[in-house]
Amino acid sequence: MAKISVGILGATGMVGQSIIQLLEKHPWFEVTEVAASEKSAGKLYEEAMANRWNISQEMPEYARRLKLKECKPDLDCEIVLSALDSSVALEVERAFAGKGYAVSSNAKSHRMDRDIPLLIPEINADHVDLIKAQQRNRKWKGFIVTDPNCSTIHMCIALKPLLDKFGLEKVMVTTMQAVSGAGYPGVPSMDMIDNVVPFIREEEEKLETEPLKIMGRLSGDRIKEADFAISAQCNRVAVRYGHTECVSVKLSENADKEDIISSFGKFNPLADMKLPSAPKRPIVYLEGENRPQPKLDANIEGGMASVVGRLRKCGILDYKFVVLGHNVMRGAAGAAVLNAELLKIRGYLG
Ligand SMILES: NC(=O)c1ccc[n+]([C@@H]2O[C@H](COP(=O)([O-])OP(=O)(O)OC[C@H]3O[C@@H](n4cnc5c(N)ncnc54)[C@H](OP(=O)(O)O)[C@@H]3O)[C@@H](O)[C@H]2O)c1
Repeated sequence: MAKISVGILGATGMVGQSIIQLLEKHPWFEVTEVAASEKSAGKLYEEAMANRWNISQEMPEYARRLKLKECKPDLDCEIVLSALDSSVALEVERAFAGKGYAVSSNAKSHRMDRDIPLLIPEINADHVDLIKAQQRNRKWKGFIVTDPNCSTIHMCIALKPLLDKFGLEKVMVTTMQAVSGAGYPGVPSMDMIDNVVPFIREEEEKLETEPLKIMGRLSGDRIKEADFAISAQCNRVAVRYGHTECVSVKLSENADKEDIISSFGKFNPLADMKLPSAPKRPIVYLEGENRPQPKLDANIEGGMASVVGRLRKCGILDYKFVVLGHNVMRGAAGAAVLNAELLKIRGYLG
């Protein structure tokens, strides 16, 4: 089978370099183009990344000699995975979609647009069909799909089996988010060491709105949003990788602790689809009284799982638990790749 050609926009950033790594031996995709800002364009990838490669494995051979280009829609590829800074993603991604490219984006710019799918394949693979309305509305030959905010993804994966089995009425979440979530170089070290910053711009709004679209129902050309209430508080903590979220839920029906844990374990809607990047266990429940922890558990299933623990009764709502997820892998790079795989399986690529 000929591989599908892929361009990476923002290939030099935290997320972009993880996509480079993830696609090293991908069975369906081949990276043919890398692009970033004007200051990187014209350099070989290995030259531009000399002091910026932030991944513990070595840079893949295939990427070293690729020449970085500007993010203009004249790249030799069928799909672009966008890891662009949101300040430029809006215009650039639209330009690519208009010129016929498929775009799988990590940026916030289009997530809440009515005709743009905000995808977590385990939850709302059917929303991909919004692409048809999008192409009609915007007269685009290409299209855009997006992945959610990195905290949203992991919280939604943990909530979905509860929504399906018991119904959800209220969710309260407090996050402790890793510094890598702010990109590179990100938050100044003087602000982070020995500190917690109780504010991340626009993060609480994303956690309170995106899940309702993701868990909404596709009806014709639009999504009817889910209708539970969410209250979020977001903090930046001195952790490199892995966002930890303390979640309390009010369910619509009574539930036993064992039933909830069993619903986490059984959740695997992609099992039959054979997407190469889908984790074997989307939710991993840990019994240890002090787990999950970012240092120990963020890389479970290659960073593609949402790791849950500490399920117990809540004195105000019904139950509370902790969910941990890798913010760069499942929270961004891995999510964009998984969305691209879904596009292929659904006939939108290749
Ligand atoms: N980090 C995470 O955990 C995470 C999680 C979820 C979503 N996201 C989202 O993913 C995207 C990338 O995040 P990141 O953490 O990888 O950010 P980052 O490390 O700051 O990288 C940003 C990338 O955008 C490129 N860029 C910046 N300005 C540009 C311009 N004017 N024209 C073209 N390219 C430009 C940069 O290229 P140069 O190197 O040439 O400047 C770089 O490749 C963001 O939208 C972010 O919100 C990140």
